Amino acid sequence: VKKYPAAITIFGAKGDLTKRKLIPALYNLFIDNHLPTAFNIICVDFLEVNQDEFRQDMLSGVNEFSRNGAAEIEKWNEFAARLFYLQGDFLKNETYGNLNEKIKSFEKEAGQTISRVFYFAVAPRFIETISDALYQHNLCNKENLDRIVVEKPFGTDLETAKKLNRFLGKRFSEKQIYRIDHYLGKEAVQNIMAFRFANYVFEPLWNKKYIDHIQISVSEQVGVGKRGGYYDSSGALRDMIQNHLLQLLCIVGMECPGAYKSEQIRDAKTKVMKSVRPYTNAEVFKNVVRGQYTAGMINDDLRPAYRQEEHVSSSSLTETFVAAKLFIDNKRWEGVPFFLRTGKSMPAQSSVVVVQFKDSPHKIFRDDIVPNRLIISIQPELEISLLFESKVPGLQMKLKPVEMDFTYKESYTETIPEAYEALLLDVLHGDATLFMRADQIEAAWKVVMPILDAWKKYPQKDLNMYKAGSCGPDAAQKLLKPYAKEWFELPFSKTVKAL
Ligand code: BG6
Repeated sequence: VKKYPAAITIFGAKGDLTKRKLIPALYNLFIDNHLPTAFNIICVDFLEVNQDEFRQDMLSGVNEFSRNGAAEIEKWNEFAARLFYLQGDFLKNETYGNLNEKIKSFEKEAGQTISRVFYFAVAPRFIETISDALYQHNLCNKENLDRIVVEKPFGTDLETAKKLNRFLGKRFSEKQIYRIDHYLGKEAVQNIMAFRFANYVFEPLWNKKYIDHIQISVSEQVGVGKRGGYYDSSGALRDMIQNHLLQLLCIVGMECPGAYKSEQIRDAKTKVMKSVRPYTNAEVFKNVVRGQYTAGMINDDLRPAYRQEEHVSSSSLTETFVAAKLFIDNKRWEGVPFFLRTGKSMPAQSSVVVVQFKDSPHKIFRDDIVPNRLIISIQPELEISLLFESKVPGLQMKLKPVEMDFTYKESYTETIPEAYEALLLDVLHGDATLFMRADQIEAAWKVVMPILDAWKKYPQKDLNMYKAGSCGPDAAQKLLKPYAKEWFELPFSKTVKAL
């Protein structure tokens, strides 16, 4: 890949994302020599902050949040010399004039064409203003080299997402728009495609004939923390299901693309997203469970109820937990339920995809043989396990389920990049494979719209309370019937014993 000198502008310099994720990711790319030799990072925000203070603040972010731990001071100084703070109001023309000057002077210094990347790490209300200003000031007009990166939430429903797509589409070409979903940058998520399409043994079984059901769980131990203001008007369905979990569903459910090429992969994912069965209002309440956490203990810590969290209404009806049974209406998946579940203030952080195979149609041992199960753990551990029956050593034909494990820890010595490292590098390389196209994002909204509509129509109906530290409301367990007794949890050995 040709590395053009790059001017990376981050709008929202003082936000959490910049300090926790973006600057640590860029710093790691820099120390691993992945950034172009000439680059500039310009961070824009409203506040009056001096250059040194800003760099110091970013250094503390790297020290605290980078996978490599504390920065090496010499390297950091080299990096920091290209890191700038630009004070400016996103709503004022002057800001873009100043930005233009900065980029132009860098361009002059580089002495050649540069690539411009504009990262929107801002509240959604600024996206249109900033995009329009970039367009009006001709800041982002080279179709092949200039790009914008838009964080979620991308719209708050189908209409607003369509409107935003149209708005951006009038100012930039689709090729320039990178809609980010950080789950797609996670190493173990990228590996799902390799696992499915580079191995011949699994794909023939990857369909309704052999698969009983699939569970996709993203449970979080954290509550809403300081994000109550945003979260209370969003909820788990918009915050997690519409993007991260549906993206996982697409990767697990998609057909094999013709080639490992951006558009072909995005076509295949969009196709499966469009095949998710839409629900009527009544079906929503049968197939989708929502919950909200009340006070409870997690690791000896008393956690507040959601309604007691900062910036959350004391009578809030916002869901902090969702479990949904979805079907993909196509030949491969007809009748196979995909159970999706996500929640905050749950007992552990764990993102996992479980493929539950069917029971053997012919049993020559016992009746209670445990059907095969493939467990893809995305985090905190990166592992793939296959559960199968085996003979227990001894003089009798006694069987017991065992696991065949592949762990990154044992198989690789390479470091595992953070999702934002992978994705930022893809943006610099102009590779949109792991980003969402306009049609895909709209298709994802179409899946959740009937649920949002039903909940809006009946705001109080079936909002189940669950204690912080529990696995969510009981209704979520019942949703699995008759397919499974429970949601599979890590560690795996616990799951096996539970059967
Ligand atoms: C974000 C959500 O997109 O993903 C957060 O807005 C959530 O609410 C986070 O906590 C989870 O990401 P990860 O990488 O920690 O699993």
